[in-house]
Amino acid sequence: MCGIIGYVGNKNAAEEVREGLFRLEYRGYDSAGAAIMDENGIISVVKKQGKVANLAPYLDDISGRIGIGHTRWATHGKPSDVNAHPHSSGKITVVHNGIIENYAELKSKLEACGERFFSQTDSEVAAKLINRNFKGDLLCALAETVKVLKGSYALMAICEGVSAIAVAKYRSSVILGYGDDEYFCASDEPALAGKCSSISVLEDGDLAYITPDGIEIYDDGMQQVIRDKRANTAAAQSLDLCGYPRYMLKELYETPAAVERTVKEFNAAAPKLREALRGINRIILLGCGTAYHAGLVGKRYFEAFARIPAECENAGEFRYKNPVVCEGAAVFAVSQSGETADTVEAARLARTLGAKVIAVTNAPNSALTRLADVVAPVAAGTEICVAATKSYTAQIACLYLCALTFAGEPLTCERAVALTKMPALCEKTLASVNTYSIANMCAGASGVYFLGRDVDYAVALEGSLKLKEVSYVPGEGYPAGELKHGTLALIDGKTVCVALVFDKNLAKKCENAVEQVLSRGGRAVVITNVVGVCASLKDRVRIISLPDCDKFLSPLISAVAVQKLAYETAAVLGRDPDKPRNLAKSVTVE
Ligand code: F6R
Repeated sequence: MCGIIGYVGNKNAAEEVREGLFRLEYRGYDSAGAAIMDENGIISVVKKQGKVANLAPYLDDISGRIGIGHTRWATHGKPSDVNAHPHSSGKITVVHNGIIENYAELKSKLEACGERFFSQTDSEVAAKLINRNFKGDLLCALAETVKVLKGSYALMAICEGVSAIAVAKYRSSVILGYGDDEYFCASDEPALAGKCSSISVLEDGDLAYITPDGIEIYDDGMQQVIRDKRANTAAAQSLDLCGYPRYMLKELYETPAAVERTVKEFNAAAPKLREALRGINRIILLGCGTAYHAGLVGKRYFEAFARIPAECENAGEFRYKNPVVCEGAAVFAVSQSGETADTVEAARLARTLGAKVIAVTNAPNSALTRLADVVAPVAAGTEICVAATKSYTAQIACLYLCALTFAGEPLTCERAVALTKMPALCEKTLASVNTYSIANMCAGASGVYFLGRDVDYAVALEGSLKLKEVSYVPGEGYPAGELKHGTLALIDGKTVCVALVFDKNLAKKCENAVEQVLSRGGRAVVITNVVGVCASLKDRVRIISLPDCDKFLSPLISAVAVQKLAYETAAVLGRDPDKPRNLAKSVTVE
């Protein structure tokens, strides 16, 4: 949920940490802070509530060769200067991503020993414990400390007078970066894009010790271990706005390329997937938020293409219901980041119960990738905007191919070939759809209700989530037929209904729902590629026409339309869609 960055090298650590924090800001932006050690081993700490830009000027006057930084999404304690990381105790200063679940118990014990706490965070406990455990060896003090921590942590600690960063990792991601006489430690790869030639990924329980001479890695038994080094492929240019005003818009316009790349990469992954799916008799799709919505579309693909019953569940619900899973089940765990705690833990649980786990992810080095039996790659590229756009469409493309593969179809079949035409249709949709005046309507609405049937319903849920998330306009997604069973009571002149109609056979039924809205004084928008739909209502309904395509592929273009509507509504209201309030991109806490 938070982002952490560490630097040891010959450059100015304050500058490196500042840059890293800007790159990690999408993981949390309630507050930010840094600790920089100067040539004499003295540590300066600066921390500020709010975005990294608030902190940045305070780093101008600090320099050193070793530094750690943190950008926060608050879990324990409100966003404030004092709750911002780093936290210090004696000579020790730490930054922490994760949740220390037993912090209250540890805090009481420490208070009983005379420790005074200044923040409401769980993380300050770690600083106190490391300080108490420090007997001259920073790594040993950290190793002793993590033995008593329950929960998840990516922890970095520095100590006055010690030219090193000690790192510990458990269920929160940490990558190490190797440059020319400089070393990095960070929460994820975008932070190190273009910064170092190779990276390695720490495993749960690992500790690392970073000094000007290099990096040593130890397992939880303090045995030195080697973790694979791989080329750092993250490109710095993916972090540029390239002239777009916001990442959300830039990434939305990258949808065609994301779908195209995903199709290409799937070809290479298909044989392994085909092998893993042999003998599978049950399909379960899991994910959270937008990824869960992609799973709902995927469920329909498995049902329609392979005629196998498929379930799609919210990962956070799945893991706490004592799920019935046994051998023969395949779990498709969908996650852009591959780090969402609920999805990773649900997949881990399913695997221990005998299921095959297929990671449908955009993150090749993530926790989900590492625990999965097979990876179905989503090649959307780096996504910085907190609101998912291109990763959602690429996940749908990937699940479409997974379902065809499961159904025993070759990647040259008619349906697969039809998918290869979709990037061009996404492009056409982006170029032709004008949602500006509808965005104005939504911006002033008391509620926006997205309606659809079958796959359109799944996209309706996503359209509603996207609009709420970036514009803060309330609303819901509903099956079009459900409206009359309750929600119709909400409809009045201040509400807007957005109906998605991409199935010719269901178009008339959706038209009925739109009629019901209009006759209660509501306003309606229809997004469709069915010719003639709502023709008789056209003076009273705003119609957005999209290119013709098969109904199962229509989510790839209807998603683009609802994402654009959400973006423009946020723009009308002056919201920042890249960093919506209270949110963060990777939800690595439960
Ligand atoms: C919404 C959004 C979130 C994520 C969810 C899961 O725009 O981005 O709902 O989809 O937090 O994240 P991942 O896909 O990284 O597991």
